[in-house]
Order: sequence, then C-alpha cells, then structure tokens
Amino acid sequence: MQEGKVVAVPTETVYGLAADALNPSAIAKVFEVKNRPADNPLICHFSSMQHVQQFVEKIPVSTKVLMKSFSPGPISFMLDLPQNSPLAFATCGSAQVIGRIPANEIFLGIITQLNRPVAAPSANTSGRVSATSAQMVEEDLKEKISGVVDGGICSVGIESTIVDARDEQNIFILRPGRIGEKEIQRVLPSAKILSGKTFEQTTPGTKYRHYSPATPLFSLDTIEMIDQENEVALLLTQDQYNGITDEQKKNLVSRKLQVIILGSMKNLDELARNFYQHLFQLDHLNLQKAFFLKNDWGNSSLGKALQNRMEKIIQDYVPPAN
Ligand code: TXA
Ligand code: MG
Repeated sequence: MQEGKVVAVPTETVYGLAADALNPSAIAKVFEVKNRPADNPLICHFSSMQHVQQFVEKIPVSTKVLMKSFSPGPISFMLDLPQNSPLAFATCGSAQVIGRIPANEIFLGIITQLNRPVAAPSANTSGRVSATSAQMVEEDLKEKISGVVDGGICSVGIESTIVDARDEQNIFILRPGRIGEKEIQRVLPSAKILSGKTFEQTTPGTKYRHYSPATPLFSLDTIEMIDQENEVALLLTQDQYNGITDEQKKNLVSRKLQVIILGSMKNLDELARNFYQHLFQLDHLNLQKAFFLKNDWGNSSLGKALQNRMEKIIQDYVPPAN
C-alpha cells in the first residue's frame, strides 16, 4: 500500500478495498476498480483516536464518548476536516470525513505500520452487495487489484453504523448497523437520537442507493404468489420456514424451489454474519430470480440494519397477469 497499490483487507464488518488515503493516484485507482461515481466519498480508517485527532478539526464531545465506548468497532463518525486537508481526495472535496477505527487485528496492524489513514470502501463493484469473505472479493475484483488479505468471514457481516455526533445533543444515525439507538442512548442518555432520511440530505454518497445481488430479488406476502415459469429460489428465515405448513413444504419440494434459509431471528448476530454470504450463494445458482418472504425484522439495532439492507436489494413483486 506504500507504493500506491490497492489491496482488499478484512474488517469486522465487510471487506474493504484499501488504499493510502493521502495518495491521490491510489485513491483514483479505488474509484476505477469499484467503478464508483467520482463524487461518492470514501470512508477513512485510522489506528486510534489519537490518529483520528491528527486529521480532523476536532473530535466533538459526544463523538468522543461514542469513540471511547465503541471503537475499535463497527461504527463510523462524520467529522469536520480542517481547510486544505490532505484527505480531500478521499472525501471528494467534502469538508467532512467519515472515519472509523476497525476492530480487526490484521487491518489495524496494516494501518499502524503504514502510519497513515487508509481509505477503504466496501470491496465490491459499485452497485453490488458487500463482500464478507476473501472468496467473494476474489470473484468480483481479483484481476483488478494487487491482492486480497484473507481474514476469514467478517464477524459482523454488514457495514458499520455511520453516525453524525458533531452536535452534542442531536445524534444522527446516517446508516444503521450493529451499534444502534439503544447502544448509543446507553452511553449518551440525554442526547436525542435521530435516524431516517437525514443521510440523503447530509451526504452525497447515499443518492446511490440501490445494491443488488446479480439475481433479482422480489418480496412476497405469501409463498402462493410465486409463479412457476422458471426455476427460482426462495429465501426465508428459519422462523418463517418453521411457520409454514407441511403441505406447503411438500409443495416447495414438488415445485423444485431452491430454498435458502437465512438463519434464525433468535440469533440475529449469526444471521447478519451470513447475510451477504447467502446472497453470494444465491448468485451461484444462476437463477433468473429469487423471492423473499416479507419479514418483520424487529426493533433491535441489528434488526433495523438488516431491514435497511433488505430494502436496498428487494423489489416488490407484481405477479404476471394471466
Ligand atoms: O463497515 C464499513 O463501513 C465498510 C468497511 C470496509 O469499513 N466500509 C463501507 O464503505 O461500507 P462504503 O464506501 O461502501 O460505504 C460508506 C458510505 C457511502 O455511502 C459513502 O457515500 C458514505 O459512506 N460516505 C463516506 N465518506 C463520506 C463523506 N465524507 N461524506 C458523506 N458521505 C460519505
Ligand atoms: Mg459499499
């Protein structure tokens, strides 16, 4: 990475496409490899709070509390940059950087050794789902990058929470993740925590909203809505599968539906860890489409984050007219 090369690295959330954040040509390469729109800024990774401090205007009070509580970990912070910041290339000229300290020994070691911030968006072609294993990265980007550091499957499995905690009292969750309202409220009891549409207003990146597995995924109210012209897959949680009748299960088998069980709502950590892996597996089936049975993801932080990721990849299903 010292020589301006682009390498995929493991983090606890998803794999990152890493480059020296202070090297403009390395940053340009990241955009090229991902085919990422040129105005979509890159998250920068730091080795410690002291390291963050060297590059930002200041670390505001509430941000500091959150950083002390959850970093290194799956949370990123919006912070103001000083004028003429060397991070301006990575942030596409924005006056803010989104920074995080990853909880992955290998990646932290790399940042520490480099002793520079590392820009690393998720290691996937723009518009595709994030990669959570070295194999996923290799399949998508191998020819275009200098290497993949294999750190196994990412332990969290979905992208970090992004927060704007620059205002002491109003904390915005710009992208939901493993750390959510409950966890934040616990350490900032008097702050107001807001989430929702704010990200679109504040950040340019999120106008690029749609992610998708190569196989189009449609949401369904009931299994009966599935039409049968082609072989298709059905994604559901273990709980949904347990909830369908024996008759319906037999029916799934006789209609040659490929059933992919995403995991149980009783173990959301595991479900999230395997979430993108299941979509990867789905794409390997090479089907024309897949269905997902509408699910109540619940109110936990991970539940809300999974709901958010699902919304980005599914389309409502309109059965063909007969
Ligand atoms: O868990 C994660 O956050 C992973 C790992 C690799 O760290 N990274 C990640 O990066 O998910 P990416 O680029 O796929 O998603 C970051 C989001 C994008 O929507 C981007 O537009 C937005 O954050 N973003 C990054 N820097 C920004 C900035 N300075 N201002 C506004 N939005 C920014
Ligand atoms: Mg991404």
